[in-house]
Amino acid sequence: METERTYSFGGRPGGDARPEEPAPEEQAQTDPVPHVPDDTPVDIEEAFRDSNVQEVLDKLDRELVGLKPIKTRIKETAALLLVDRVRAGVGLPAAVPSLHMSFTGNPGTGKTTVAMRMAEILHRLEYVRKGHLVTVTRDQLVGQYIGHTAPKTKEILKKAMGGVLFIDEAYYLHRPENERDYGSEAIETLLQVMENQRDDLVVILAGYKDRMDQFFQNNPGMHSRIAHHMDFPDYSAEELLDISKLMMEEQQYRFSPEAEETFKEYIELRMQRPNFSNARSVRNALERARLRQANRLFAGGGKGLTKRDLMTIEAEDFRASRVFTELEGNSADGG
Ligand SMILES: Nc1ncnc2c1ncn2[C@@H]1O[C@H](COP(=O)(O)OP(=O)(O)OP(=O)(O)O)[C@@H](O)[C@H]1O
Ligand SMILES: [Mg+2]
Repeated sequence: METERTYSFGGRPGGDARPEEPAPEEQAQTDPVPHVPDDTPVDIEEAFRDSNVQEVLDKLDRELVGLKPIKTRIKETAALLLVDRVRAGVGLPAAVPSLHMSFTGNPGTGKTTVAMRMAEILHRLEYVRKGHLVTVTRDQLVGQYIGHTAPKTKEILKKAMGGVLFIDEAYYLHRPENERDYGSEAIETLLQVMENQRDDLVVILAGYKDRMDQFFQNNPGMHSRIAHHMDFPDYSAEELLDISKLMMEEQQYRFSPEAEETFKEYIELRMQRPNFSNARSVRNALERARLRQANRLFAGGGKGLTKRDLMTIEAEDFRASRVFTELEGNSADGG
């Protein structure tokens, strides 16, 4: 894959849209960039097509319910990077934009999923070489003893180089109440690399909004290096139902009409209960429904079953949930 970013047009090394090579005698002169007249036509569409980024954007639209503002921001970022590439293609300077981000929101609102897509998009636009996502929390960055933290953080940074480093619950890096805490050392190391190697690594800090705001207040250096703050809202009941349908489709299951009604009720109730975590709670509920369906099919003796039965989740597969059976209960994830 092509790593040099200057002077490539539309992602094709040596593609035909590349301005002509300078003649040898011109090349010997100081300016290596040939003069490109201002009225040189540029083809943004072609650059867009060549990057194959549309594929990822379509997938983002198709596979992720809601998240309109997030999707818009991602498209804007893609546009910026594309225009930068086309600019470079006609010899214009294209400053490497800083793309470190913070993703704030409650559990299960899609932060990790979007980070994975983001890595893919940045890769297609050749902002990063590899486009992989390395997910870590404090424990993988911060050591227990003096001298352990910097090497630990550096090792993770090395792993993430060429891709995206996703730091979940990033605020745990900062523990002011503990004076012998090494978190600040990890932050220092991160800051350096975020500044010096930002053309080959994107850092995404994720976590709850209020705690993240506090973290940025205490770490202005970190705040100033984050160019994009994206807030992931809680999903509405309707969006959660749409998400459940996507998840079911993915695994070739379907709701019976009664099951769909029951699951709507389930969602409304589950949203009120403790430890509700948006799309993650939906995924967990469907897992348990699958389990109950399997047991129901077995308990029925398995006679006269069809493929349809294997695919269908019935209302009773949800009704047995603790969300319905113990309406005052207090279980970990609603059962
Ligand atoms: N908008 C969405 N459309 C479809 N599925 C979604 C959406 N958002 C999240 N999911 C699914 O919900 C699950 C949880 O999402 P994800 O792990 O991205 O959330 P998160 O914000 O990182 O949560 P946490 O804070 O708990 O780590 C995943 O299985 C993901 O595929
Ligand atoms: Mg996550």
